[in-house]
Amino acid sequence: MLDGADDRQLKKAAELLHNGKLVAIPTETVYGLAADAFNDDAVAAIFAAKGRPADHPLIVHIGRIEQLNQLARDIPPPAVELAKYFWPGPLTLLLNKSQHVPDVVTGGLATVGVRMPKHDVTQALLAENDLMVAAPSANPYKRLSPTSAEQVLHGLNGKIDAVLDGGMCHIGLESTIVDLTAFNETGDISIRRSGHITAEQISQVIGLPVNAWQPHELKVAGNVSAHYQPGPPLYLKSTNEIATKLRTLHDNIPGVVSYSDELSPILKALPPTRWIALPKDKAGFARALYAALYQLDRQCVPEIWLETPPDTLQWQDVNDRLSRAATEAGT
Ligand code: TXA
Ligand code: MG
Repeated sequence: MLDGADDRQLKKAAELLHNGKLVAIPTETVYGLAADAFNDDAVAAIFAAKGRPADHPLIVHIGRIEQLNQLARDIPPPAVELAKYFWPGPLTLLLNKSQHVPDVVTGGLATVGVRMPKHDVTQALLAENDLMVAAPSANPYKRLSPTSAEQVLHGLNGKIDAVLDGGMCHIGLESTIVDLTAFNETGDISIRRSGHITAEQISQVIGLPVNAWQPHELKVAGNVSAHYQPGPPLYLKSTNEIATKLRTLHDNIPGVVSYSDELSPILKALPPTRWIALPKDKAGFARALYAALYQLDRQCVPEIWLETPPDTLQWQDVNDRLSRAATEAGT
C-alpha cells in the first residue's frame, strides 16, 4: 500500500502506471483500478485482475479538461458546459470516441466514458506525466465497489501492483453517467447510471431536457442485474419485518444494517459486531453503505438484513445499487 499523502510514494504510483502496472486509486466516488489508458496490455490486465468480461467498457479518468479533446470527437456544446460545471466531480460523460482511444478500453464500442475525479491525491497523481488512466471500480467482477484502500485489498490483494491510499471516499457510490453520444443527431441526453448528480441538476445547468434514468430500459454494456454484491446473501427488509423476525430468532444471527431510530431498542440486543447503524440522511447513508457491507462480510455473518431505504427520487442511486446487490436479483 502506498500513502497518497507522501509525495515520494505518490510519485512511485505514477511511475508504476507509466510502466504499465495496475494501481488502485482513490476518487470521491469509489476506488478505481487504474492503468495507462493508452497502453493496451496494461488495460487488458485490468480485465484479468477483476475477472471482468472484455465487452464491459472502462471510464477514462483525466486531470485536465483539455485532455477531453484527445479522447472524444464531435463534442457537443452541452458536454463542454457539463464538464466545466461539474468537473472535477462525480459525473461521467459518454461521448463519441476519438481514434486515439484503444478498443480494449471501450470494449470495441465507438463511444467513450470520461470523467475528472475530485480527489487531491488522484489529481496530483494524474498531473505527474500528464496521465490519463482507464479505471473501473477496484473490485472483483460483480462484487461491491471499495470505498477504502483496505477494501480494495480485501478483493484484489495479489492481483494488482499497488493501492494508493487516499482515505475513505467522500461520496461512496459510483458516478452518474450521462450519455451525449446521440446529441448531435437527435438532441438526446440520457442518464445511463444514477448517481450523486441528478438529471434535474444536469438539465438546469445546460437548459435542456434530460431523460431521467430508467430502471428497466438500460441497454448499456455492463448493466447486469446482479452486481455490487457482498459475500453473504443480502436481503432488503422493512423496519417491521426486521423487528418481528429478530424477536423470535435465537441462532444464525444475521448482520443488520439499519438507519431508523425505531429499530435501535431491538438491535441493541444483538452482539455489537452484528449491527451497523447508518446515518439517516441520504448522503451520509451512501457514504457509509459499502463500508458497512464489507464490514459484515468480514464478520462472516450468515446473512445481511438491510432496512429498506425510502422509495423516493432522492434515494434512487442507493436503491439502484441495493436492488442489484440484494440476493433477490439472482446471480
Ligand atoms: O465513480 C465511478 O464512475 C467509478 C470511479 C472509479 O470513477 N468507476 C466506475 O467504473 O464505476 P465501472 O467500470 O465499475 O463502471 C462504469 C460503467 C460500467 O457499467 C460501464 O459499462 C459503463 O460505465 N461505461 C463505460 N464506458 C462506456 C461506454 N463507452 N458506453 C457505455 N457504457 C460505458
Ligand atoms: Mg464497477
